Amino acid sequence: MKTILCIGAGYVGGPTMAMIARKCPEYRVVVVDIDAERIRAWQSDRLPIYEPGLQDLVKATLNKNLFFSMDIAKGIEEADIIFVSVNTPTKTFGQGAGRAADLQYWEKTARQIKAHAKTDKIVVEKSTLPVRTAEAMERILQSGNPTVHFEVLSNPEFLAEGTAVKDLENADRVLIGGHDTETGRKAVKALADVYEHWIPRERILMTSVWSSELSKLAANAVLAQRISSINSLSAICESTEADITEVARAIGMDARIGSRFLNASVGFGGSCFKKDILNLVYLCQHYGLNEVAAYWEQVVTMNQYQEDRFVQRMIAAMFNTVAGKRIAVFGFAFKADTGDTRESPAIRVCHSLIEERAAVVITDPKALNNARKDMADCGDKIVYEEDPYRAAEGAHALAIMTDWAEYKALDYRRLYASMSKPAFIFDGRNCLNHRDLFEIGFNVYPIGKKPLSHL
Ligand code: UDX
Ligand code: UDX
Repeated sequence: MKTILCIGAGYVGGPTMAMIARKCPEYRVVVVDIDAERIRAWQSDRLPIYEPGLQDLVKATLNKNLFFSMDIAKGIEEADIIFVSVNTPTKTFGQGAGRAADLQYWEKTARQIKAHAKTDKIVVEKSTLPVRTAEAMERILQSGNPTVHFEVLSNPEFLAEGTAVKDLENADRVLIGGHDTETGRKAVKALADVYEHWIPRERILMTSVWSSELSKLAANAVLAQRISSINSLSAICESTEADITEVARAIGMDARIGSRFLNASVGFGGSCFKKDILNLVYLCQHYGLNEVAAYWEQVVTMNQYQEDRFVQRMIAAMFNTVAGKRIAVFGFAFKADTGDTRESPAIRVCHSLIEERAAVVITDPKALNNARKDMADCGDKIVYEEDPYRAAEGAHALAIMTDWAEYKALDYRRLYASMSKPAFIFDGRNCLNHRDLFEIGFNVYPIGKKPLSHL
C-alpha cells in the first residue's frame, strides 16, 4: 500500500486529500497540520471548514484510509508522495511587503521533510507559489549530503470554495509540472496514476515545473481580470442607464468570450485572487517588466474602486449621510456556500460604513464567527445577528454582500414592514428580484443598473 502525506489541513489540503482517499482505496492518505484544534475538528462531526458534500466525503473514509494527525515526522518518514499545502500569505514585512508571498512556512516545511526523510520522496507543491519556488525547494532538499532523492513536482489546485467537492470530483483539468529527466518523468507518472483513478487521462496536463507554477497565477489573474472588467463596465452602466446584465449577456453569447464569470458585483474576494495577482505583479517587477506589472495591478485597483463606489452610492442615495442609520449587512462570506471571509468585500464596506458612523448589523448563515474576528477593531460598534429578520428590524437599508440562496427566499414584505422608511436595498450581488422589491416599496439599487426609486 502506498502512503500519501499532506502537510497543511486547510481549505485546499483537507478536501483534496479526502477526495483522493475516496477515489483511491488502495492508498493510505495522512493529513498533518501544526494546528491541533484543526486536526481535532477534521476528526469530528464539526469540520473546520464548511463545504457542501464535504462532511459525507470525509465520513466515508475517515480512519479507514484517511487519517488526520499532528505527527509530521512520522508522516514524512512513511510517505511515498508528500503534498505541501501550507499557507503562503502576502508578506507583511520587509522586502516585497504587501506583494510578495511569505514563504517562511514553506521553507520550514522543506527543512522538516529533509530532516525526517529516510527514503526517496516525491514532493508536490500544492500551495500556489511564486514561479521558481520549486527550484528553491529542491535546493534546500538536496543541500548537504543527501542520501535520499527528492523529486519536486508542481500540482496546483484549481478548486473554488463552496464547490470544492464538485470541482475536485469533476476537475476541468489536473496540471502536473515536472522535470524532463528520468526521475522527473517517473514522478509525474506516479502522481498522474493517483488522479487517473477518476479524472479522464486527456484532462491530465503535463508541463514543465515553471509553466505549471505560472499557470496557477495566470488562471487566477485572468479570472479576476474578467470580474474587474465587468465591474468597470458596471460603473459606465450606472452613469449611462445601460444595464450590466444585458451587456454581460450580449458579450457572453460570443462563444469566444463565454458567459461564465461575468457577474458584476461589489467586488471579488477570497484568499487567492488578490494575493496571486500581487504575486504576479511582484514577479514582473523583479524581472523589470514594469508595464506588465502595472497592467495586472490595475485589476486589484479596480476591485477596490468597486468596493468604494458601492459605499459612495449608498451614501449618495441615502441623502448624503448614513450617520446614526442602522444598516443591515446581509452576508459577510466572500461568496455563497462558504464560511470563509478572507478578503471579503464586506470587510472594506463595513469599515467604510463604520467610518461614516452608521450603525452596522451583520448577518450571515455561516460566517458570523469569522466576521467577528475581521471586524474586531470596531468593537461593540457592530452588532452580529443570526436571524436576518431581526437584523433588518428598524434598519434604513439592507446591503446584500453575499449571494446566499436563502436571501432570495426571504419574505421581503415582512422585512420591509419592520424597517425604517424610506427603506433601501443595495444589492451588491444582483441576486434579488429588483422589480418585486420595488413594488413592495423598497428603493432598489442594483450594481450596474438604473436604481428603482420611489423618491
Ligand atoms: C493554502 C494557500 O493559502 C494557498 O495559496 C494554496 O494554494 C493552498 O494552501 P488554504 O488551504 O486555503 O490555502 O490555506 P489554510 O486554510 O490557511 O491552510 C493551511 C494550513 O497549513 C493551516 O491549517 C496551517 O495550520 C497549516 N500549516 C501552516 C502547517 O501545517 N505548517 C506550517 O508550517 C504552516
Ligand atoms: C478562485 C478560483 O476560481 C479557483 O480556481 C482557485 O483555485 C482559487 O480562487 P474562489 O476564490 O474560491 O476560487 O472563488 P470564485 O468562485 O473564483 O470567486 C472569487 C470571487 O469572485 C468571489 O468573491 C465571487 O463572489 C466573485 N465573483 C465571481 C464575482 O464577483 N463575479 C463573478 O462572475 C464570479
